[in-house]
Amino acid sequence: MNFMGKIQKKPQSEKPVAAKKSSQPLQAVKGTRDLLADEIWLMERIRVKFLEIAFAYGFDGIETPVLENTEVFARGMGRATDVVQKQMYSFRTKGGDAVTMRPEYTAGIVRAYYENGMFNMPQPLKLWYWGPVFRYERPQAGRYREFHQLGAEIIGERNAVLDAQLVQFFWVCLKDLGITAITVEINSIGCMVCRPGYRVALVNYFRQDARKLCQDCKRRLKESPLRIFECEEIRCKEMAEKAPQTVDHLCEECHDHFREVLEMLDELEIPYHLNARLVRGIDYYTKTVFEIWPDGKPGFALGGGGRYDYLVETLGDKSAPAVGFSGGVERIVDELKNINAPIIRNIVVPTVFLAQLGDLGRKKSLRLFEDLRKVGIRVLESFGRNSIKSQLKVANREDAPFSLIMGQKEALDGTVIVRDMASGTQETVLLAKLIPELQKRFTKTSMQLGDKTAV
Ligand code: HAM
Repeated sequence: MNFMGKIQKKPQSEKPVAAKKSSQPLQAVKGTRDLLADEIWLMERIRVKFLEIAFAYGFDGIETPVLENTEVFARGMGRATDVVQKQMYSFRTKGGDAVTMRPEYTAGIVRAYYENGMFNMPQPLKLWYWGPVFRYERPQAGRYREFHQLGAEIIGERNAVLDAQLVQFFWVCLKDLGITAITVEINSIGCMVCRPGYRVALVNYFRQDARKLCQDCKRRLKESPLRIFECEEIRCKEMAEKAPQTVDHLCEECHDHFREVLEMLDELEIPYHLNARLVRGIDYYTKTVFEIWPDGKPGFALGGGGRYDYLVETLGDKSAPAVGFSGGVERIVDELKNINAPIIRNIVVPTVFLAQLGDLGRKKSLRLFEDLRKVGIRVLESFGRNSIKSQLKVANREDAPFSLIMGQKEALDGTVIVRDMASGTQETVLLAKLIPELQKRFTKTSMQLGDKTAV
């Protein structure tokens, strides 16, 4: 039969109208990016390390909604801050509510502290977080409109030891990731007792030559003079260089608090640089403020934070001292790229492939599978296959860093062969010594056995 004959030619008018092709393929919104393979692996590596430390330091996780009522940030971060004035993605919902896509976590966490009655929980509350935040900034290297923050907040404790512990948390996290060329920049910006006096000194200083300031700083001088320290205009920067310093105006309590923080950093052997111009761009800070900068990139913070003893009362009817920090995940990823950190797949869970040969090998493998699972190792297998070659093919496809081979001889000897899948080298290991041997190998790839936080 002539098949073609069965197909009727459609009349011209019934032809489906092809969708009109646009000349340009669509693109991601300016300042946002797709995160692809290698970058995701580096992010996962940071996340595993961050969670390992958060877990060890006794932090619980929190995730707040991306959308908050605009008032949370306007009141929390300060209406005069650049973030609130210029950088927030704010809009009205169809129902008319004024909402904002979070430009940071801290104010939202304090909102959650009230809403979830967390003030009734044992204090201090120690919370970690990780997720996307949004700021309408001019995009450039290391500055995006959507980026990710990791961070930790401690609410309900005023002791200086916690300021130092948070610096230590972030410092250790970066160091353990291999980012070693970094410096802690630190300052104290006082409290409600001493800040007003400092503010007067600052206003008097800038007023002497106010006409030299840029338009933004003229406004800042009236609303929030400390913000002048953040201006990038050369003439404002030059004036800020000689401005009075916060540390010379601290009250006794703030002075002692700062001294204690520095003494603890000395004890921890964390080097720091006293930076009199560091005031941070958010209004809620009191006393300690700090940032960690990569060497040679002043001002390009990998993260920063400080104490915010009044934010809780600014957003509700209770008061509680607090301290925290946030790190910029994309900037940390860039640093990992700069130091050529290897891309390690399968970092989330320590993984091995278990290959077996012969009846006895298979029997012993089942037992070994469970022994490994119990200590937190994910075991991939292909027990249905008989040939070693085809099993190792699966191991390669699954990206397992190590394979364990249990044949007849190994089963009788109480041993197993450990094969490094990248180099192909093999070593026979006593079963009794297998777990410590794997622990040693996984540590090198920054995975931890039994590390449930990484699962
Ligand atoms: P922040 O200094 O505004 O502090 O942001 C923390 C970190 O986020 C920065 O040090 C930087 O690494 C990263 N970051 C900021 N903006 C961008 C951007 N546009 N693109 C890429 N990365 C960026 C806070 O957000 C406070 N909530 C920190 C804190 C927590 N204070 C007390 N607790």
